[in-house]
Amino acid sequence: MTTHDIAVIPGDGIGLEVTPAALQVAQAAGRRHGFGFGFTEYDWSCERYRREGAMMPPDGLERLSGHDAIFLGAVGAPGVPDHVSLWGLLIPIRRAFRQYVNLRPVRLFEGLDSPVRSRIDLVVVRENTEGEYSEIGGRMSRGFPEEMAVQESVFTRAGVTRVLDYAFGLAARRGGHLTSATKSNGIVHTMPFWDELVRERAAEHPEVRWDQEHIDALCAKLVLDPGRFDVIVGSNLFGDILSDLAAAVAGSIGIAPSGNLNPEREFPSMFEPVHGSAPDIAGRGVANPIGAIWSAALMVEHLGHPQAAEEIVAAIAAVLAKGDVRTRDLGGTAGTEEFTQAVLSHL
Ligand code: NAI
Ligand code: MG
Repeated sequence: MTTHDIAVIPGDGIGLEVTPAALQVAQAAGRRHGFGFGFTEYDWSCERYRREGAMMPPDGLERLSGHDAIFLGAVGAPGVPDHVSLWGLLIPIRRAFRQYVNLRPVRLFEGLDSPVRSRIDLVVVRENTEGEYSEIGGRMSRGFPEEMAVQESVFTRAGVTRVLDYAFGLAARRGGHLTSATKSNGIVHTMPFWDELVRERAAEHPEVRWDQEHIDALCAKLVLDPGRFDVIVGSNLFGDILSDLAAAVAGSIGIAPSGNLNPEREFPSMFEPVHGSAPDIAGRGVANPIGAIWSAALMVEHLGHPQAAEEIVAAIAAVLAKGDVRTRDLGGTAGTEEFTQAVLSHL
């Protein structure tokens, strides 16, 4: 039997509640398909930051690098600045392991209320290692009237090309359509460069129809007519915003999954729900585990078991379609555990 060696970082808040749910479901899918997991848990979190002054130990990345994949719940806690939790853990993992694709599927499941009446089945591909989230810049004249902040965006030919190639390839395997998020009318250096590279890569993928939309108009269309989209590719910032928007349009942020992929598999990829640690509902056992369970399905697929992954998503869909068990964010009364049991019994 194949055993996959997974690093598990439950993190903070509801991360601690949805992670066990996701791992349970992944194990159940594995049992049906002849593979298993070895889980190594790391308590890296804001809790640890409070105790020891760092989100993870100095050799944290080294310890993760030997695993087949990483599963993360969520990090973030009141009183710890969000840039500490992000730059102390998530961003170093994404960058050190060249997880340059942030994959965020969005679906409107049958039985869910959505502000829109349209079929939604799309994937946002977010560039995950450069772009607007750069370390280049600084602050000057702190506390004076002339105080200033500068942050540079970084778009490299190699970095943009590789994420575009991934997105075109994904579109070719799905509905054959790609939309590029741009803003080349306002951002006059990096975005025209992005557009040029999109045209260049499109020529290498003639089987994919493609278009581009300015990010502001794209946001409006995503709300008014999400059914027209298949794969949307965007820079780090645009992709981040678009995927939260798309998740909300599909019913709840609690549903949305993500994979931080190193497509070449030189390093472990990381899977995590899109939502954060939700301190407002943490510790009560009411968090929606779908985002985490679906993220586990992405992990299972990445580990080479597409059939098992599909069955996990089908089980989520079946429970939602039946409608009697759902969490409070979706208008139901079930807790995390009850919903997870319903998914397990469908599997
Ligand atoms: P959040 O996603 O934690 O919560 C936003 C709202 O959605 C809250 O009202 C919450 O109760 C609700 N919600 C989120 N997930 C849910 C679920 N699974 N089931 C039911 N309801 C759910 O975002 P927020 O409040 O902006 O951030 C809280 C903390 O999480 C902050 O410290 C932030 O930095 C961190 N965060 C961490 C992320 C990560 O670990 N990747 C991503 C986003 C935020
Ligand atoms: Mg976000």
